[in-house]
Amino acid sequence: MSISVVGSLNYDLVTYTERVPDAGETFRANYFETHVGGKGLNQAVALRKLKDSSVPYGIRMVGNVGTDSFGDALLGLLQSHDIDVSHVRKSEGVRTGVATILVENSTGQNRILITEGANGKTVYGSKELETIFPETEDRNMVVFQQETPDPCSVMRWLKKNRPDHQIVFNPSPFKAVDKEDWQLVDVLIVNEIESLQIVQTVFPRDEVKKYEAEIEKDFMKGYNAVCKILQEQCVSEKGPAIVIITLGSKGALYCSNENKEIKFLPAAANVHVVDTTAAGDTFLGAFTTQFYQGANINEAIKFSTRASSVTIQRKGAAESIPMYDEIVNK
Ligand code: RIB
Ligand code: NA
Repeated sequence: MSISVVGSLNYDLVTYTERVPDAGETFRANYFETHVGGKGLNQAVALRKLKDSSVPYGIRMVGNVGTDSFGDALLGLLQSHDIDVSHVRKSEGVRTGVATILVENSTGQNRILITEGANGKTVYGSKELETIFPETEDRNMVVFQQETPDPCSVMRWLKKNRPDHQIVFNPSPFKAVDKEDWQLVDVLIVNEIESLQIVQTVFPRDEVKKYEAEIEKDFMKGYNAVCKILQEQCVSEKGPAIVIITLGSKGALYCSNENKEIKFLPAAANVHVVDTTAAGDTFLGAFTTQFYQGANINEAIKFSTRASSVTIQRKGAAESIPMYDEIVNK
């Protein structure tokens, strides 16, 4: 039994500043730190830190780093959390992925530039996929994001060859995918912007305008409609078909095959935001472990919003993710 993450690993170079400079402007920032990150790595760490240690299953990272010291640091961090890295390749002649991040101290909001580096090598043929996902393995959940070149090709292979595995997709940073590929997804986790971007790339312009106007008029009602249409027309009909839209400090909306009615769960109130980096990754990891362990969607989302509210109160990415005990004992 295991949960696998196929995705990116980045070394984060983070400058904390009162505000971000305008074009041509230079001024002093507050301080600089390096952190361990990348959406794939953060999600693997979130899965590991937020899993109930009394339930026995492993977390596995599948991806690429370079042969530089950044890559060693990322691998070391994963290993220190007992995450299986046997499928993290060290690619020759390419640097480890890097994220240049500016965090505004006044708001905790970030701006991120990613240099793909070794993450660009995260491309697999069916022979490799046979080794990564052996046929003998039990139900696996496999998590994807979009910081690697073509996650959908791996999803397609899984749906065909390992139909028992469930696919969790967080299409972040957003880029359009083929309309049919959304059907590969069992659990879709998106933020409000991404949810609308999917609608924009999948549905006709008139339809899109309808949703945009609805959101403008009544935010919650609008996103309810977006959640519904994504659930009914995008994600896999055969799987659990869950769509979750995270709404930042407001909370999250979801619906599923089992319960078509949209539910809203509010986020923790009065949180002092220090650094929002990895909030989405924490939510995804928390939700996936809870769901895998048998929690219902409602309980799993409540746990996830609590977990990500801790992440945003701490600096950094993977290191800012809380442990299971910090959340259950709150
Ligand atoms: O989701 C946060 C992550 O996005 C950061 O750790 C950074 O590496 C970028 O990939
Ligand atoms: Na953080």
